[in-house]
Order: sequence, then structure tokens, then C-alpha cells
Amino acid sequence: MSNPQSATLYRRLFAYAWPYRGRIALSIIASLGVAGSDAAIAKMVQPFVDRLIVAGDRQMVALVPFLVLGFALFKGLSRYVQEYFIKTTGQLVIQRVRNDLYCHTVDLPMRFFSRTSTGTLMSRILNDVGLMQGAVSDVLVTIMREGITLVALTGVAFYTDWKMAAIAFVVIPAAGAPAYFIGKRIKGYSRSGQVAMGMLTTSLEQTFSGVKVIKAFGTEEREKQRFLAVNKSFYSFVRKVIKYDAGSSPIIELLSACGVAGVLWFGLDRVMSGEMTQGELFSVLAAILLMYSPLKRLIRTNNMIQQAMSAAERVFEVLEEKSDIIDLPGARSLERPQGAVCFESVNFAYDQEPVLCDFSVAAAAGEVVALVGPSGAGKSTIAGLLCRFYDPTAGRILIDGFDLREITQESLHRNIALVDQETFLFNESIRDNIRYGRADATDAEVEEAARLAYADDFIRQLPEGYATSIGNRGLRLSGGQRQRICIARAILRDAPILILDEATSALDTESEAMVQQALTNLMRNRTTFVIAHRLSTIMNADRIVVLEAGRMVESGSHQQLLEGGGLYRRLYDIQFRDE
Ligand SMILES: Nc1ncnc2c1ncn2[C@@H]1O[C@H](COP(=O)(O)OP(=O)(O)OP(=O)(O)O)[C@@H](O)[C@H]1O
Ligand SMILES: [Mg+2]
Repeated sequence: MSNPQSATLYRRLFAYAWPYRGRIALSIIASLGVAGSDAAIAKMVQPFVDRLIVAGDRQMVALVPFLVLGFALFKGLSRYVQEYFIKTTGQLVIQRVRNDLYCHTVDLPMRFFSRTSTGTLMSRILNDVGLMQGAVSDVLVTIMREGITLVALTGVAFYTDWKMAAIAFVVIPAAGAPAYFIGKRIKGYSRSGQVAMGMLTTSLEQTFSGVKVIKAFGTEEREKQRFLAVNKSFYSFVRKVIKYDAGSSPIIELLSACGVAGVLWFGLDRVMSGEMTQGELFSVLAAILLMYSPLKRLIRTNNMIQQAMSAAERVFEVLEEKSDIIDLPGARSLERPQGAVCFESVNFAYDQEPVLCDFSVAAAAGEVVALVGPSGAGKSTIAGLLCRFYDPTAGRILIDGFDLREITQESLHRNIALVDQETFLFNESIRDNIRYGRADATDAEVEEAARLAYADDFIRQLPEGYATSIGNRGLRLSGGQRQRICIARAILRDAPILILDEATSALDTESEAMVQQALTNLMRNRTTFVIAHRLSTIMNADRIVVLEAGRMVESGSHQQLLEGGGLYRRLYDIQFRDE
């Protein structure tokens, strides 16, 4: 509970709670009211018994109902104020944690996303933060309310009869050892449970995004079994957490029974011998009995803290992920570059395996460079490097003579339009999907971009036209329709550098020819990198670069490469054999 790592965790959580110190203070004051009324009730048992029941003071009898109501009202109000403010504080703290986690994650580099599963990330942002949420608010409530109550009641007990109170008090430190042991177990199992929950979310995410494959291959049963298994393993960890948590109260009860037994054994004897009044004995007993229930709740709270800490660890793990793709201090903002792009002896590897070796290409502003080569040659990797999804392991990439690492990412991305091989669309209307390219574009501009991408016709035929929501990842559209929307999005972007990665691969020959015309118009005055397997679409490029296994093997115009008789010639011959 108090190793240096958890100390850091507490400090970080504390830093999150600090802005809400006003609310917390208000809540503490209110919890003093709650604790105060408990202590006062315990204290008043003595005059109640001695002066009312034993001595029979009639004047006080009339006051009793009002006192009872007054205390109830005061305690109720205090509890309300305390609970309302502390619980909202807990929510606010957690909201900040969740916001930070999301914002931090979105800024992490591509490398992070290619090694972390979507499900795990979702589970951290939803479940783990949720676990913290239960704890942060409840912990603050309980520790404060029960802690203060405990101190106040202990005070009353000691004030009334310190010897007897001391007997009862032994229980409190004695409860520490089992509480510590139980807390540790709970933390461990809770962590395993969260890992299982991450697997569960991953499984969900995979099922729903891969539902087509599951249906096509008829693997529903297999997926069900897999889900059941993961869910079962989740239960097995949760069960252990419940087992230890449920055990903590009986243990405390047993310990408190020892305390009460001790007090009675010692106290009854003293009442008999007239050393203390019945009232004093009952008052101490009341204080002690009242004291054990906050103690029990505190220990349960410790169990919750342990669960929250294991969740917090996972949350802070992500928050600690450093991005290696960052804006250097003094990075310049590119306004509107000419668009000259230069790869200088670029080497790159995703992991150990080199993917690009000594790749050099210089594209003058406005030039169209085509990248061709077999699958896996590294074409999309080059596009990704230009977008600075990754930094080269050696060499540099320059735009207008500035190293990408010296340019702010915001301005770099503002000047690049990408039509990716994976046509991703958001679960929004078509209009919003196209407008994603430039947020301030007018409806007329959106429609113009769609017209240029030959998407306008089919969009207008949809039931709600541009307002049609295209469903999860655009699944309500055909592959070619999706691709045309992606092209419209890039057209609207109106950036000086254009990257087309298999942008027309899903189109039929006729629409490809039309879109190609649109793209040719678009490429005018823009530096363009176009990647395509279908050579007919890139024959007119200013320069064709042929890649094989991460190396440039040829480069030149279509004519030059045909005459060269190398890999390009071979690819060309295979594709045009029939014609
Ligand atoms: N995120 C990644 N992590 C690790 N390796 C990767 C990653 N992305 C691609 N690779 C590897 O890098 C190599 C080049 O991939 P790339 O996507 O650049 O090929 P490509 O030329 O675009 O192929 P295609 O024509 O099939 O799209 C491949 O061997 C691939 O396995
Ligand atoms: Mg590719």
C-alpha cells in the first residue's frame, strides 16, 4: 500500500483532485457534522441513562424527542452536502483523467497504434477509468467521513474511560495486518481481471469489425466459444476479488467481538464494584460499537482503493507513453510550400527488418512521381514517411528544403492530402465525411469536390443525398463509392502535396478513366506521389520509380523504363499481354 510506486500514483491522483479542493473542503466540513452527531449521540447516552432512566428527570424527558429530530435533521443535511460534493468531485476528477487519457492517446504516434490493440485501448479508457471512478469518489467520501467519525468516537471513548477504551482500541491496529494482506490480494486479482476485460473488449471489437469474415466463413460458433472463454476467465478473477472483499468484514467483526468481550469483562466488574456508573459503561460501549462500523467500512474502502490503484496503474501506463514524433522547439510552420519533396538516402524499419534501404528521390514542385513495384515493396511506407507517421531511421525527408522534423506537424499535415489504400470513412453523413478534408468548406464547395471525384451523381441518388449517414466505416457504400468519397475529401483539402495510394483501385475501368481525368486535373500544380498497381493509371507520370524489397531498382519516364527492359518492362508486359 505504501511502496514508492503507489506513492507516485497517489500523488498523481492528488494532482488531479487539487483543482476541486474547494468542493472537497466543503465536503470535509460537512463530514465533521456527520461525525460530530455520531460522537454527540454516543456521549449523550450517559446523561440519558444516568439522569433520565436511572434518576428519572422529568424536565429532560420533554426535550428528548426534539433532540432526536434535531440530530437526525442535522446529520441528514450534513450527509447530503458531504455526499453530493464529494461524489461530483469524484466524477469531475475522473472526467479529467479520461479526457487526458483520450487526448494523450490520440497524439501518440502510429507505432503505438500498430502494437496496441484497439480493444485494449478502449478498455483502458472505459473500464479502467470507470474502476477508478468508483473508488475516487467513494474513497474520498469514506475515508473522510469514516476516518473523522472513527477519530471522534475514539476520542469520546478515551475521554469517558481511557482504560476501557484502550482495551477496545487494540482491535484497530490488530485489524491492520489482515487488511493489508487482503488489499494486496485484491489488487493482484483486480489487475488480472482488467487484463481479461481488455481481452473481452478486444474480442468485441474484432467481432464487430470482422463480422463479414465471420459470417462468410461460418465461424460464429468458434467466436462464441472464444468469447465465453474470455468472459469466464474474467469471472474467475472477479470472483477472487469478491472472495477477499467479502472476507474482510467478518474478520473485523470477529476482532471487534474480542474488543467488546474485553470491555464487558473489565467494565461489568467495575460497575458491580461501584467504580463506574452504568451510564459510563454504556457510553463507552456505544462509542466502541459505533467505532467498529467505520473501521469495517475503512477496510472495505482499502479494498476498493487497491482495485482503483491497479486500474490507475494501467491508465497511467498509457499516459506515460512518450511520443517520439513531436514538434521540436522552434519547429517552423510551413505556410503554403511550393511542394518540392526530397527523400535523401532514407532508411527505415518498422522493427528490426529493414523496409526501405537508401531510398532517394527528388520531386520538384508540381511534379508527379509514381511509385510502382510488387506488393510489400515499401510503397505505402514511403507515403507514411512523407506524412511523418514515422521518422526515418537514417537519412532525411525535405519539403522545400526543410527537414520534416523541423516542421510543425500541424502545418505539415495541412499541406498534404492523402487518399489511402484503406478507404476509411466516419460514421457520419456523406457531407461531413467530405468536409473532413477542410472543416470550413461551404456546402457548395463540398458538392463541387464530389462532382470532381465523380461522386455527385450517386450521392444524389441516395435517399437523403448528401445528408445520408453512411454507417459504420462507410459500410453502406460500395468499395468504389467509398473510394470516390475519399478522393472528394482529398480534393477539398486543396493541399500542395498529394498522395494517392491505390486511390482508384476499386473503380471499374469506366469510372476509373473518369476519376483519373479528375485526378489529372487535381495533380496540376501539385507535387503528387501516386501509387498504383495498374500501370495504365501512372504511365503519364513525370517520373516512375520502381521499387523492389525496399530498394529503388529503376527510375525514369514510362518510355525510358520500357526501353530499359527491367522490372517495369516485365510488369508492363504481364499487364498488357492480352491487349
Ligand atoms: N505497421 C507495420 N509494422 C511492421 N511492418 C510493417 C508495417 N506496415 C508494413 N510493414 C511491412 O513493411 C513492408 C512494406 O509494406 P508497405 O505497406 O510499404 O508495402 P506496399 O509496397 O505498399 O505493398 P502493397 O502494394 O501491397 O500495398 C512489408 O513487408 C510489410 O510487411
Ligand atoms: Mg501499400
